[in-house]
Amino acid sequence: MTIGITFDGDEIVGRDGQTIAGVLLAAGRRTWRTADGAERGVFCGIGICQDCIVTVNGTESVRACQRTACDGDVIEKEAR
Ligand code: FES
Repeated sequence: MTIGITFDGDEIVGRDGQTIAGVLLAAGRRTWRTADGAERGVFCGIGICQDCIVTVNGTESVRACQRTACDGDVIEKEAR
């Protein structure tokens, strides 16, 4: 089954059960956050670091590598 998320206004299709990071990586996105001007995406991939954090449906600091993507999720970049 497919799901659809919105990432900074772009519609992205993923598969049911994928993490947000999985959906973004599969769509060719390698980074989705900046820290002190440096591009960040997945680093550890297991929820230990904070490189992959995004805002999900208005909730800040969600680890994209840990959160399962849900149909209709609205994802926004973070910069800190
Ligand atoms: S990549 Fe390290 S917490 Fe997600």
